[in-house]
Formats: sequence, structure tokens, C-alpha cells
Amino acid sequence: MTRLLEGKSALVTGGGSGIGRATSIVMAREGAFITVADLSGPAADETIELIRAAGGEAQAVVADVTKPDEVTAMVAAVVTTYGRLDCAYNNAGVAAVHVGAGGQRVGDISQQAWDRMLAVNLTGVWLCMKHELAAMEGQGGGVIVNTSSIAGLVGLPGSNAYVAAKHGVIGLTRAAAIDHAATGVRVNAVCPGYIETPMVAEAMARRGDQILATVPMRRLGIADDIAEAVVWLCSDRSGFVTGTTLTVDGGYTAG
Ligand SMILES: NC(=O)c1ccc[n+]([C@@H]2O[C@H](COP(=O)([O-])OP(=O)(O)OC[C@H]3O[C@@H](n4cnc5c(N)ncnc54)[C@H](O)[C@@H]3O)[C@@H](O)[C@H]2O)c1
Repeated sequence: MTRLLEGKSALVTGGGSGIGRATSIVMAREGAFITVADLSGPAADETIELIRAAGGEAQAVVADVTKPDEVTAMVAAVVTTYGRLDCAYNNAGVAAVHVGAGGQRVGDISQQAWDRMLAVNLTGVWLCMKHELAAMEGQGGGVIVNTSSIAGLVGLPGSNAYVAAKHGVIGLTRAAAIDHAATGVRVNAVCPGYIETPMVAEAMARRGDQILATVPMRRLGIADDIAEAVVWLCSDRSGFVTGTTLTVDGGYTAG
């Protein structure tokens, strides 16, 4: 059977952990050459070792998606090594707890926490897209997938900057899809529900039963649930799909 991403060059940000790592591995299984980018070099290295151990091809790049120079170098590294950029998965992100704003309401969050959240989870996506789009348009097309969240579709308590950033990712995805459709670039977003990764470990430890009670399927998703959706969005099988959000949430937003 033909693999979905045979011979394509794919970039994954936040590829050192959780959803980004799983997606890097599944993309490689489907035949893509992967550039795993992450803030953490050791984490990115670990992902490429897993890919290579399974017979895939990958390189690691250390890049902070909030730093313009590092994002420029990240996209350049993809093109230098693999000749082109076919698929970009903009997935790097942080939770409220990572910016010191876990559980805080709109009136309580500090400016510093707000700015950091928006810098990583929204401006970081825009910055990556800016450079990815230039590479893709120069070669006649490509596919971008951005990680939003159920928090991009509905409000969640105690996560206001995260919710705002993830809603912003959906708006940015739609706008980019329209702006760039004529140049052969498709842009979509994936909206994960609660997925079993290091990001949700703390929330699950604190209020796991409460969280599961809100999920009709009564379980957390696994990172591979998101990876499979992203691979389909990156593949030619979704060739007429652009500007949309694919929700993978065990029914969370169905009610
Ligand atoms: N896990 C969930 O339940 C869930 C639900 C909805 C959306 N998401 C989103 O999915 C994405 C991945 O989350 P995850 O659960 O795999 O988290 P994770 O914490 O396991 O992985 C996130 C990765 O992003 C990297 N990263 C963080 N800031 C970065 C930066 N500035 N530049 C480059 N890399 C950076 C981290 O080093 C880490 O490797 C995030 O955008 C998150 O908001 C997760």
C-alpha cells in the first residue's frame, strides 16, 4: 500500500514531546523525511533516535518559535537538508501553568504571563507560517497544519490567555488559507481535546475525574489520535481541504 507522505519533507515544531513527537514518528512511518524542531535539543534528539530506530529519516533542530532568527534558521535547515518543505506542523505550545497563570481568571493574569502565552501559542505560529509560506510558495505549494485546541472553539476555566491564543490560531489559519490558496498552499488546524501528554499530566493529577466527566468517550485521547489526523491533513487525500479545523476530542465539543 502506498504510504501517505512518501518522499515528502515535513517540519514539526514542538516535536520533542507529546503530540509533536507522536506526529513526527507517524509522519516518518508514512514515508516523510522529518525535521524535528524543539526548544529542547535533547528532547528533539530523542525523537529523531526513535524515528531512526524504526527505519525513518530525520534531523533535529533547536528552535524557539518566538525568536525570529531561530525560526528563519529552522526553515532554512529543512530546505538545506531535504531540498524543499512540503508539510509543516506548527504544534509547539505551552499551557497556562507554564507561564505562571494556571487557574487564573482574566482579571488576575499578569501582563507578563499574557504576553508569553500569546508569544508562543499565537505569534509563534504566525512567525513559523511566515517563513514556511515563503518556502512553499517558492516551490509551487505545500501544506500547513496548526495546533489549536478545544480551547480554540469554546472557553475553558482558568486558561484565558491559552483560550484567546488558540481561538487566534483558528482565525489565523482561516485567513492564511484564503490569502494563500491560489499559490497551492493549504492551511488547516487540528483541535485536540484532552490528550495524554506531559502537558495535561498536572491537570489530570489534580482533577482527572472532573475532566473525564466532561468527555463523552470517558477517556483521554492519545497523541497518535492527533498524529493520524495531521497526517491525513498533510496528505494528498485531503487535497480540497483548506481553512478548516479538524476536531479530535472524544466528543467534548459535540454537546
Ligand atoms: N495535550 C493536550 O491535551 C492538548 C490539547 C489541546 C491542544 N494541545 C496543544 O498541542 C500542542 C502540543 O502539546 P503537548 O500536549 O504535546 O505538549 P508537550 O508539553 O508534551 O509538548 C510541547 C513541546 O513544545 C515545546 N515547546 C514549548 N515552547 C516552545 C517554543 N517556544 N519553541 C519551540 N518549542 C517549544 C516543548 O519543549 C515540548 O517539547 C500544544 O500546542 C498544545 O497547546 C494539547
